[in-house]
Amino acid sequence: SLALVGDPGASLYNTGAHTTTGVGMKGLVLSGGKGTRLYPLTYTKAKQLIPVANKPVLFRVIEAIRDAGIREIGIVVGDTAAEVKEAVGRGERWGVEITYIHQSAPLGLAHAVKESREFLGDDRFVMFLGDNCIQGGISPLIEQFGQSDWNAQIVLTRVSDPSHYGVAELDDDGRIVRLVEKPKEPRSNLALVGIYMFDRSIWEAIANIKPSWRGELEITDAIQYLVEHGYRVYPYIHRGWWIDTGKKADMLDANRLVLEEIEHRVEGFVDRDSQLIGKVTVEAGAEVINSVIRGPAIIGENARIVNSYIGPFTAIYHHTVIEDSEIEHSIVLEHSSIVAIPHRIEDSLIGRNVKVHRSPIKPKAYRLTLGDHSDIGLL
Ligand code: G1P
Repeated sequence: SLALVGDPGASLYNTGAHTTTGVGMKGLVLSGGKGTRLYPLTYTKAKQLIPVANKPVLFRVIEAIRDAGIREIGIVVGDTAAEVKEAVGRGERWGVEITYIHQSAPLGLAHAVKESREFLGDDRFVMFLGDNCIQGGISPLIEQFGQSDWNAQIVLTRVSDPSHYGVAELDDDGRIVRLVEKPKEPRSNLALVGIYMFDRSIWEAIANIKPSWRGELEITDAIQYLVEHGYRVYPYIHRGWWIDTGKKADMLDANRLVLEEIEHRVEGFVDRDSQLIGKVTVEAGAEVINSVIRGPAIIGENARIVNSYIGPFTAIYHHTVIEDSEIEHSIVLEHSSIVAIPHRIEDSLIGRNVKVHRSPIKPKAYRLTLGDHSDIGLL
């Protein structure tokens, strides 16, 4: 059966439980791009480094590959190379070996693979988009591909808006008939998830495709080439959740889903006047004073929550201060502060070093310093 197996929580968090099925395979993570749909946060931060449940999406991707038993991981970087390298390092933290590959220009997923040729050699590999979040990790997929003689395996999942993705058309026996990148009239609701497994036949495919209308070498076209030329390409239908964290709503969705699944723990200080309800993590060095935290929620290292309410599906990152305020279904990044706000903050994505506070200065007015593309919803 193609149903999802294994403990969905395992790859979302470092449980130490690794499989060995991916031995001999390499991992390729794509972590370039500008992240325009997450402006203004991504003016200063690679989108793959925005945390979901207080851990960058890219780290979750690396952990999922490591948990599948893969040790050699290449990360394709672009404009945000310096920041990605600084955050990820050489991989010791995860017991993997990271190689950085500089993509000369953002010319598509197949172009990124092409530029990784030296790192990949003729080995089989899994390619994983660094902004994708998937329930259950990839160990079952790697196991299936590792035991097969398939040339490629793709991951498909049902979506309500297929025209935003690569779309697969299958025949009655579940075999791939055709793959089309962002079709105006999709022939199915099966989208290509940003996780692909290949053997060396992909090199022939990439050498034979042309840039698409958007000027990119599409991996979807390369896989279509494999299908057309008689290579064995198999679909894996993923039945859990999957999120391509391109926009604010996706980040909040991913945050909500991951917060539901991780193992929670309280390592910081919670005073006797505070209440933690449900699944709540308080990371080391954090302080919760006279506050109510209703989970699932996570409070980051050295954060301070004072006289406040933190509602479900909220992730407060490191060194953040929430005082005399209420917030829920939101993500707040490091070193920000929210103080004495009279109305509850919801559905928000707040960047680093942001100050949200009341101003005592007369006349009473909103005083805003907002970056380009900021989006504020006032009462
Ligand atoms: C890419 C792929 C597309 C796939 C999607 C998944 O799209 O081209 O086939 O469905 O990732 O996230 P892009 O993010 O480049 O628009």
